[in-house]
Amino acid sequence: MDIRKVGVIGAGQMGNGIAHVLAVAGYEVALTDVSADALEAARATIGRNLDRQVSKGALTEDDREAALGRISSTLDLADLGGSDLVIEAATEREDVKHAIFAELTPHLGPETILTSNTSSISITRLAARTDRPEKFMGFHFMNPVPVMQLVELIRGIATDEATFTACSGVVERLGKTASTSEDFPAFIVNRILIPMINEAIYTLYEGVGSVASIDTSMKLGANHPMGPLELADFIGLDTCLSIMNVLHDGLADTKYRPCPLLVKYVEAGWLGRKSQRGFYDYR
Ligand code: CAA
Repeated sequence: MDIRKVGVIGAGQMGNGIAHVLAVAGYEVALTDVSADALEAARATIGRNLDRQVSKGALTEDDREAALGRISSTLDLADLGGSDLVIEAATEREDVKHAIFAELTPHLGPETILTSNTSSISITRLAARTDRPEKFMGFHFMNPVPVMQLVELIRGIATDEATFTACSGVVERLGKTASTSEDFPAFIVNRILIPMINEAIYTLYEGVGSVASIDTSMKLGANHPMGPLELADFIGLDTCLSIMNVLHDGLADTKYRPCPLLVKYVEAGWLGRKSQRGFYDYR
């Protein structure tokens, strides 16, 4: 299947990064969100991130303008009607995703592939509530999207081979590398990464080390680009907690118990960088 037009739902951190890389790779992108402010902020962020690539010599000024020109913004899901592929990157809440798909699918042609950038929700369950489970799959980018090389591709139980092949082709055209995960809670990256972060939070909670010593240990002792607490702030503590809950509920194993300190921070509204406060203070 020839994919030329891609709809991206959600203009947040992930959605704007996804629109960015698609546009640079030559796809026509329709970016949608419920908030006009979010759409405007996304365009500004994409412009800034394209500037970084221009200043590094990775893109020319003309490439930058052409990429921005390929991105249209809309508040109306119906405007995604002409898409060959839709990537949903809205709020990580299952009810929100079901509601978006229910509103969107009547506007889509029968061949349109529908995907979700969910970091942990069951693809099979999301797919089952749509009109096209065989044309539905997981398309999971890593943050920051323009920098990270990996995309996890997740087949639901009903995903057909043509859908998988088409999505693999998009990953290739983006110049990224795909890994394939079966549809189990949190897939591969987050199944491994988020419990590691949760363990780092336990290490802090139990007084084994300070924030600085935990992060320095993992940066210099394990060559991680960011310490686990810095990374938790970067991902968002609410997202980390929600993924731990998905693992805990889905696998029913106490080893996935969210650390009480993580729960407390989220209850306080200390969500990391996006709220200016997490394990570090960004104010
Ligand atoms: N857009 C475009 N380019 C960007 C960018 C962005 N948003 N953010 C950073 N860059 C570029 C910079 O311009 C720079 O480019 P060059 O190498 O060409 O100079 C490069 O990326 C490195 O950036 P910086 O020099 O500013 O900073 P850094 O060296 O500290 O790297 C980082 C920043 C890439 C974020 C690095 O710290 C890192 O890799 N951190 C770990 C990120 C990670 O683990 N992500 C996965 C999170 S888990 C996830 O996403 C899954 C989920 O579902 C929760």
